[in-house]
Parts: sequence; C-alpha cells; structure tokens
Amino acid sequence: MFSLLLFISLINLLFCSPAARNDEPIIGVLAQEVFSPKPNQTAYIAASYVKFLEAAGARVVPVMINMTMEEYKTLFSSINGVLYPGGGVSIISSGYQRAAKAFYDLAIEANKRGDYFPVWGTCLGFEQLMYLTSGKSLLSFTNTSGIALPLNFTEDVKGSRMFKAFPPELMRALSSEPLTENSHHWSLATLALYTNEELKSFYRVLSTNNDGNVEFVSTVEAYNYPIYGTQWHPEKNAFEWSRPYIPHSPSAVRTTFHMAEFFVGEARKNFHKFPSKEEEDKALIYNYNPVYTGAESAFEQIYLF
Ligand SMILES: *[C@@H]1O[C@H](CO)[C@@H](O)[C@H](O)[C@H]1NC(C)=O
Ligand SMILES: *[C@@H]1O[C@H](CO)[C@@H](O)[C@H](O)[C@H]1NC(C)=O
Ligand SMILES: *[C@@H]1O[C@H](CO)[C@@H](O)[C@H](O)[C@H]1NC(C)=O
Ligand SMILES: *[C@@H]1O[C@H](CO)[C@@H](O)[C@H](O)[C@H]1NC(C)=O
Repeated sequence: MFSLLLFISLINLLFCSPAARNDEPIIGVLAQEVFSPKPNQTAYIAASYVKFLEAAGARVVPVMINMTMEEYKTLFSSINGVLYPGGGVSIISSGYQRAAKAFYDLAIEANKRGDYFPVWGTCLGFEQLMYLTSGKSLLSFTNTSGIALPLNFTEDVKGSRMFKAFPPELMRALSSEPLTENSHHWSLATLALYTNEELKSFYRVLSTNNDGNVEFVSTVEAYNYPIYGTQWHPEKNAFEWSRPYIPHSPSAVRTTFHMAEFFVGEARKNFHKFPSKEEEDKALIYNYNPVYTGAESAFEQIYLF
C-alpha cells in the first residue's frame, strides 16, 4: 500500500498534475555588501524585493553573503527559488557574486536532474546572470540611470513562459507606455548577446530597449532552465516612492504583481523543504525588521544584517 502511494505521488511529480504544487513556497533573496559598513550592518536587502514576493504568496529567507558553500547547499535544499536583487556591488568579486554563483551552479545541476528550481535576476541580478552564463563581462555603458521605458517586445515573447498569462491589455500597455523603471549605467547590448555563443544558446530575448545609442537586452528567459532576468525593476512600481521616475499608474502596479505571480508560480513547482519547522522559522525574514530609509536612499525600507 505504501509503495503504491509512493508510486502515485511520484507519477504526480513527474507529470505535474495539479496535486504536484507547493502552495507554501519559500524564496531566498540575496543580501549584498553595504557601501559604508558599521558593526552589525555589513549587508542589506531592499524591502521592496521581499514585498514583491510576499504579494504573490511566497515567504522569504535572506541569503547572507558570508556563508560557507556547505551552508549554501543546505539552504538550497530547503528553499524553492532564489532572487538576485539590484544594487551596486561587483558581479565579478563580491559576497553577492559568490552567493549568486553558488546558487546558479546548484540550480543548473538540480534542473538537469529534474529538480525544478527557478532563479530570478533583477538589474544587477540580470547582469550577474549574464556574467555567470558567459563567464565574461560584456556590458556596455548606457544612459539609463533613472528612466522609465516601454518594452520593445521581440517576436519570441509570443511563445514565452514569462508573459504567457499576462492580460493582452497589459501587454499593450507595457509596449506603449513607460512602465518599466531602469536604474543602471551598464547594459548588455543586444549585439553582445547575439555574438556570444553561450548567451545566445542559453537565453531567449523577450524585450529590448534603447538609450538612443545602444540597443540593449531588457528581459530574458533561459530556453531550457527556469532562469529569468529583467534589466528593469518590476518590484519598484508598487513599492518604491523616493524617485520621481518610478511609474505608479494602475498598469505599472499591475506589472509588479503579474511578474511576481509568474515567478512565485515557478517556485510552487519546487518541493525543497527545511528539515524542521524550527529551522524554517529561524531562517525566515520575519526574524528581522526593515528600517525606514526613504529620506536618504533609493529605497523606502531596507533590512540590515
Ligand atoms: C552586534 O550584534 C550582537 C548579536 O546580536 C550583539 O551582541 C552586539 O552587541 C552587537 N554589536 C553592536 C556594536 O551593535
Ligand atoms: C540621457 O538621457 C536623458 C533622457 O533620459 C537625456 O535628457 C540626456 O541628454 C541624455 N544624456 C546623454 C549624455 O546622452
Ligand atoms: C524595437 O526593436 C526592433 C528590432 O531590434 C528595432 O528595429 C526597433 O527600432 C525597436 N523599436 C524601438 C522603439 O526601439
Ligand atoms: C555572517 O553575517 C551574519 C549577519 O551579519 C552574522 O550574524 C554571522 O555571524 C556572520 N557569519 C560569519 C561566519 O561571519
């Protein structure tokens, strides 16, 4: 009887039946070094990334930047996805990069085994993904530090996983109104992606943008892995207010939620679990309190570690 039940649940897992869904997803969000460290304040996470995931039904665990590879491995087998936020640290050598690489390598290996583990990169996180996939720094300087833009969708968006469930009117708004906030000096030129074998064969380009000089890649999904990146900031529209160019229109705010719903939906396909309720409770971001920084920073609230 037991082995029959086991067999049935394995079949469910394999064929992604409605029963094979994790309705309690927990997503890791990478911390990164603060610019001027103080005692007990060496790393941070902007609270908007946490709210973004929570709004779509996930809980969040902070991924600290100083853990051992063994600790990252244990954490990986406890969570259902990982998000690399934007920010300002090195994508070649930093604690953020080290943690991102650990989770990227574990995710590739897991997905190859059929253990579906999604990865999301926003802004710096997008650039980090490009570096991890190509092993090269291929970015170009662009005039894009503080501007909202419409997305220039590619033909490939039609068959994409990311935008499949987006309402047609929101797709029209995204392609005609400046709903995506860009805060980056560096971008991956479309030409740089298409002339790099690793990137070209790994990522499907879903949208591009242009700063007037350089056409750059703004949204990607990997062909064969649940790995996603946006050079723009889906989390800011609903949750950040300290810059005048962050769009807050109804369509802009809906964009935040549809992107979050998509990624959290991907995390519901993963079945990693903490070994115990106690360990889960201890790891959750609820153990930390965000502080208000809106007056002096680009973020309304941040978590400091
Ligand atoms: C840093 O945190 C530890 C543990 O929470 C605490 O014991 C210590 O007093 C803190 N140090 C400072 C300078 O706040
Ligand atoms: C950068 O873009 C802004 C518009 O977003 C424009 O006003 C400005 O002139 C541009 N700067 C350069 C150096 O091209
Ligand atoms: C959108 O991308 C296409 C293909 O690269 C390009 O021909 C077109 O000029 C772009 N449109 C805008 C508004 O940037
Ligand atoms: C890593 O950072 C956290 C949070 O600042 C701290 O509590 C912990 O002691 C650090 N661990 C190591 C091994 O440095």
